[in-house]
Amino acid sequence: MKILVTGGLGYIGSHTAVALQQAGFEVLIVDNMSNSSIDVLEGIAHITGTTPQFKYLDLREKEEVHHYFKTHKDIDGIIHFAASKAVGESVENPLLYYENNINTLVYLLQECHAHKIQNLIFSSSCTVYGEPDSLPITENAPIKVANSPYGNTKQISEEIIFDTTKVSDIKAIALRYFNPIGAHESTEIGELPLGVPQNLVPFITQTAIGLREQLSVFGNDYPTEDGSCIRDYIHVMDLAEAHVVALQRLLENKNKEAFEVFNVGTGKGSSVFEVIKAFEKVSGTSLNYKVVDRRPGDVIAVYADTTRANKELGWKAKRDLEEALRSAWKWEEKVRRES
Ligand code: NAD
Ligand code: WQD
Repeated sequence: MKILVTGGLGYIGSHTAVALQQAGFEVLIVDNMSNSSIDVLEGIAHITGTTPQFKYLDLREKEEVHHYFKTHKDIDGIIHFAASKAVGESVENPLLYYENNINTLVYLLQECHAHKIQNLIFSSSCTVYGEPDSLPITENAPIKVANSPYGNTKQISEEIIFDTTKVSDIKAIALRYFNPIGAHESTEIGELPLGVPQNLVPFITQTAIGLREQLSVFGNDYPTEDGSCIRDYIHVMDLAEAHVVALQRLLENKNKEAFEVFNVGTGKGSSVFEVIKAFEKVSGTSLNYKVVDRRPGDVIAVYADTTRANKELGWKAKRDLEEALRSAWKWEEKVRRES
């Protein structure tokens, strides 16, 4: 079966490409390399022994997207990762985000419709829940007003997909990721943030390796046990494997609705201080950090109720926080050795 992975050179897409190949799928990747590089292709090939078919494609270019599908007619399913994902940047440049995250989805759906591609997996995010009313969060929790254009693009995208599945043969699953971290154990692929990392774990590893002087902990006065925010950190390979089972569900027509939504997290919340402590333990380093003011827009605590994914997909995260942090650290050490 041929699966098109958009944004397949990116962080989650590349790990999913590996998981797909290892599950026996043929992987086609399109990417415009706006947040990734062609070297990733080699990393995937080193792990699996197979280089995915790659085409440079900017999904904002409607005519080029159309041409791609005209010349690749036998695609069985699409996993759509390609998007812009920096929350702060989306506040500063909302139209960039609406164009890159919404237009691209619309063009893809039009091609799915035209070429009878019936299986779509979409990268959604726990950001759609905003500050939850109760924890852990189930998929039925209300969608809150988005606190960034980025978050809004995920809400709108889910609605666009839902509306489309109502009037077509397209079946879709939106996976709402919690906080993906870590890297493939081979250290052939991992997370490569451009510039100063916005996310906690790459900031931690870059500080520990000496690239950043100090980690700022954004607030220790939240109403949590140790005062720092709580998130559900999931190993990127567990997340990658969730895509494979979700895709298989669609391909085997096991889905119960034309559009389904699943939380993809571990179900366990960890505070910023707990992450720091676990990182220090697995890396054998002492992290230079200081507590600073809260970061605007941060929610206090989020972690997933994964019952639906456990039951319906037969999927459960297998790796714990320490394993994920160990892999992130191994990856950081390798990247810096080579740079
Ligand atoms: P990433 O930036 O590493 O990967 C996205 C890839 O898409 C990149 O390789 C980029 O070059 C490519 N791309 C972007 N715009 C494109 C376009 N117009 N045409 C072709 N390619 C394009 O990001 P990621 O962390 O792997 O995230 C993948 C998806 O998961 C995104 O949709 C993101 O919003 C979503 N998501 C990510 C997180 C997270 O914390 N990383 C959490 C929830 C959801
Ligand atoms: C985690 C915790 C910070 C950096 C973001 C997006 C979300 C989703 C995942 C895509 C928070 C704290 C962080 C630092 C810190 N992406 N922190 N110092 O904010 O949960 O989610 O990525 O959909 O939409 O908003 O992840 O890794 O940025 O932060 O103290 O230098 O670490 O305050 O509590 P977040 P994060």
